[in-house]
Amino acid sequence: MTDTPIAFIDLQAQRARLGAAIDTAIAKVLDHGRFIMGPEIGELEKRLAAMAGKAHCVSCSSGTDSLLLVLMAWGVGPGDAVIVPAMTFASTAEVVALTGATPVFCDVFDDTFNMDPASLESAIAVAKDQGLNLAAVIPVDLFGQSADYPAIQKIADAHGLKVLADSAQSFGGALGGKPVGTFGDATSVSFFPAKPLGCYGDGGAVLTDDAGLAAKMRSLRVHGQGTNKYDNVAVGLNARLDTVQAAVLLAKLEIFEDEIEKRQVVAARYAAALAGVCTPPAVIEGAVSAWAQYTIKVGNRDAVAAALKDIGVPTAVYYPVALSDQPAYAHYPRAGNGTPVSAALAHEVLSLPMHPYLDEATQNRIIEALKDAVSG
Ligand SMILES: Cc1ncc(COP(=O)(O)O)c(C=O)c1O
Repeated sequence: MTDTPIAFIDLQAQRARLGAAIDTAIAKVLDHGRFIMGPEIGELEKRLAAMAGKAHCVSCSSGTDSLLLVLMAWGVGPGDAVIVPAMTFASTAEVVALTGATPVFCDVFDDTFNMDPASLESAIAVAKDQGLNLAAVIPVDLFGQSADYPAIQKIADAHGLKVLADSAQSFGGALGGKPVGTFGDATSVSFFPAKPLGCYGDGGAVLTDDAGLAAKMRSLRVHGQGTNKYDNVAVGLNARLDTVQAAVLLAKLEIFEDEIEKRQVVAARYAAALAGVCTPPAVIEGAVSAWAQYTIKVGNRDAVAAALKDIGVPTAVYYPVALSDQPAYAHYPRAGNGTPVSAALAHEVLSLPMHPYLDEATQNRIIEALKDAVSG
């Protein structure tokens, strides 16, 4: 085993590949000086909308704000219930609570880590029992794989729920031949640096076919602006994407499709080598994951992670506590039988190094180290 450090996500390899392209794109912004809502913003929004086959893309300051903008534009607030999975990053429930609405947690499948439609139905019943108005559901595409949108949409339609896809981790993926960005009433994307399509700071976007929703979000991201800067028609946010970040993203889009393909190769190598060693992630039929993370399940997780760390193999735990069990969220309602799968997964999941530039030799080191660590 050599001592060359292994990157969990190798952004430097991507930077080396892109060469001067990003520096040139940034320099162009520095030269034109339109740092706020410069021309790269519109260009990026057009490109992203076209990639997802959606009529509108509204860029914004983060994935979190993209979720919040949608809920604000829909008028979600006190008395409303928004169903969210318990196995997710804080943002998914946080934005609901920020509007004054009630996040209602449902459970996830233990093989895909994504929303369990049966638990969604149970959470809907709980919300109704509590006298809440059923407003929306936010399925999360955890680790890069789409939630089961066909099943979730059917339930949402039956109960009059809007669907906001939290695709922070999955942009670049697909389900049933349709790209991420296509599902639900609106799709939220994050450009956090570690995401499959990441910028060099915070950034996000919403994709939708709903012109009214897009127009409201364009106003809300600039303080609820009306016809001009000093016409405030709604209480909004400062939630614009920086022009520099749009320029970075436009440069990265040139290689994005190829990077998603390279991630498939890395994931396939893991899947082939790890069956029987641990539980590799399940991929549902027709899904192409963006592989934001490659997350296995392993019984003695903490010992395995420690052993890997000792020999220079970085890992991460997403998430060490189910969101429904976090101090800030534990008092919110949850599906009838709770969120036991999410709680159990918090002790089993382990994310391995995953990025498009993970070469076979390095990956073999990781795989061999994992085999040793699992056999203890
Ligand atoms: C599932 C999920 N939702 C929302 C977000 C929020 O994105 P951001 O960090 O860009 O605000 C993240 C980011 O980590 C995420 O993983």
